[in-house]
Amino acid sequence: MGTPHIAAERGAVAKTVLLPGDPKRSRYIAQNYLTDAVLFTDVRGIQGYTGLYKGTKISVMASGMGCASMGIYAHELCDFYEAENLLRVGTIGSLSERAPLRTLIMAMSACTDTNFAAQFALPGTPAPTASWELLRAAADTAGRLGIPYEVGCVLTSDYFYTDTADWNLRWRKLGILGVEMETAALYLTAMRYGKRALSLLTVSDELLTGARMTPEERETSLDAMLTAALELARTL
Ligand code: HPA
Repeated sequence: MGTPHIAAERGAVAKTVLLPGDPKRSRYIAQNYLTDAVLFTDVRGIQGYTGLYKGTKISVMASGMGCASMGIYAHELCDFYEAENLLRVGTIGSLSERAPLRTLIMAMSACTDTNFAAQFALPGTPAPTASWELLRAAADTAGRLGIPYEVGCVLTSDYFYTDTADWNLRWRKLGILGVEMETAALYLTAMRYGKRALSLLTVSDELLTGARMTPEERETSLDAMLTAALELARTL
């Protein structure tokens, strides 16, 4: 039954899947935002739930950290479970004055230092890009709810710790809003399978100032982003 990393029947996963990085955040979303939530997988502690948000069937499953992990779950969701809309809901370290702590960033595209795209054996460099339909709908939804947001390009990095001090900061010259670790793998996988993907990212720390959210805030104070994602899901 299921795939190597998701222990569920095909029909157990909704067409829209929210993908936080952290399994605890997956449980938090299921417990606080969904009704009738059922745990459909717990392989390696990667909790996945399907439930109802104001009557709309929605799944929420953790992606883990990094492109290798996101690549596994996005692949299995797109290839086996036929998920149509993949919405990452995560955190990001800001590289821009445009994105202070708690800013909601919608990632239009993702530069990357990963080698994730090597598997496609392309004669060039692909551009990991969000679904225009999801991005437009997310902006419309946030606007309707009065939730402020920034749209732009992010950096998806393989490195949380870098031995080179200005590794992330060098990307500032391209106007990159911030750095996280999963979006390029999500977008490239969705592009490969003809699915729709979007990353909604809350600024959890500022790389320019060192300001950061506490671990408790990371888990619980992402409400604007989660409300935007769930209200968006209702329109899909
Ligand atoms: N680096 C990578 N990923 C992140 C960061 C960071 O500083 N902050 C939140 N996600």
